Amino acid sequence: MSTGRVLLFDSGMGGLTVARAVRHELPFAHLVYAADNAAFPYGAWEEAALVDRIVMVMRRLIEEVQPDIAVIACNTASTIALARLRETFKVPFVGTVPAIKPAAAQSKSGIVGVLATPGTVRREYTHGLIQSFAAHCTVNLHGAPRLAEIAELKLKGVAADIDELRAEIAPVFTQAEGKRTDVVVLGCTHYPLLVDELARAEPWVVRYIDPAPAIARRGADVLGGAALAAAAKPVPPHNAVLLTSARQEAEDALPAYAKMGFHLPYFLGLPA
Ligand code: DGL
Repeated sequence: MSTGRVLLFDSGMGGLTVARAVRHELPFAHLVYAADNAAFPYGAWEEAALVDRIVMVMRRLIEEVQPDIAVIACNTASTIALARLRETFKVPFVGTVPAIKPAAAQSKSGIVGVLATPGTVRREYTHGLIQSFAAHCTVNLHGAPRLAEIAELKLKGVAADIDELRAEIAPVFTQAEGKRTDVVVLGCTHYPLLVDELARAEPWVVRYIDPAPAIARRGADVLGGAALAAAAKPVPPHNAVLLTSARQEAEDALPAYAKMGFHLPYFLGLPA
């Protein structure tokens, strides 16, 4: 019996890092993964168009899935669209925003890196987090142009080029007066997919902060508080993955979803 239906949403496969943590936290929940892969990468979208896109896709997903909660497993989407989603739909939303507060608290050197998509780096929301929680730190905020795509390619079987990774992450590693970056926020859910490669590309060892466990705990709290009428709800089954593209555009990603337990693909066929 299901103890709640959780919709996990990202532009692509990055939300799988959150799905893993949600499964750990809520082993009996009924998870449905949805990716707006037709519009990937979100990091390159203009803000107003992206908000409209996310609201349109979410309307369709809520009709299809009837979730008890929706986890926006995407920083680029959460930092721009969470407020609109909450105004528009009754479903409780859990968002994902860059883990700047814990990073600032954990840094001993006072130099913190934030790796995120170019979209997340532009957001007022992100700058507000820095002002509120890391004003006492030097924050190296960097929009990595290709990191999310490199992570997707890895899951599709294309090994990451470590020299390219080195260039993508270099701006968050700085040193001054004998101190250097010691904590780096993974501000895009795709990036924890590359932890092994990041360890090979980093100029020195740092602590990476993956927000997934904290999001999963928040999801458990919100789900626990939501009225659950979950057991009797119909399709789709809990191992479904809903993709916004047509099937032929997503074929190469299906094995990676299946490996993470999402075996049944549904294609919504929405244009980008
Ligand atoms: N996974 C998304 C995030 O957390 C971003 C990937 C994209 O650019 O679409 O920000």
